Amino acid sequence: MIIGVGIDVAEIDRFAASLRRTPQMADRLFLEREMLLPSGERRGYASLAARFAAKEAVAKALGAPAGLHWTDAEVYVEESGRPRLRVHGTVAARAEALGVRSWHISLSHDAGVASAVVIAEG
Ligand SMILES: CC(C)(COP(=O)(O)OP(=O)(O)OC[C@H]1O[C@@H](n2cnc3c(N)ncnc32)[C@H](O)[C@@H]1OP(=O)(O)O)[C@@H](O)C(=O)NCCC(=O)NCCS
Repeated sequence: MIIGVGIDVAEIDRFAASLRRTPQMADRLFLEREMLLPSGERRGYASLAARFAAKEAVAKALGAPAGLHWTDAEVYVEESGRPRLRVHGTVAARAEALGVRSWHISLSHDAGVASAVVIAEG
């Protein structure tokens, strides 16, 4: 059963400018490993903006309650390149309260915009 769905878009240039202006923002939004490619290089801004959109989409899928921590929704990547979602702490607690048992996620970035769709399944 689908318990929640979330969608979000982020303008890549604006997101990149915010990260450049306030570098500590990255640590508030992302776990260190989320910011790295499998090669160990840092992800580009489009990829980071899509991950930011994914976190907003997770919040929407859960009804956007107060108190969720950005780093408690983690986007990781399977060997194939497919993104997956792992939840911790505040997000895991809300998901459990709603009966969420699995997550589905899709990311995209093109034409200056990054986007994400998230489905929470019970
Ligand atoms: C509510 C929130 C998701 C809105 O997002 P936003 O980026 O400001 O605005 P967007 O344009 O992307 O989305 C707006 C839409 O969100 C939807 N929305 C508003 N409250 C919502 C809620 N409680 N649950 C789900 N969707 C909600 C509405 O449909 C709204 O559109 P509408 O006003 O036309 O109806 C945002 O303010 C928020 O709380 N973000 C979560 C922050 C957070 O918890 N971060 C940690 C995530 S792990």
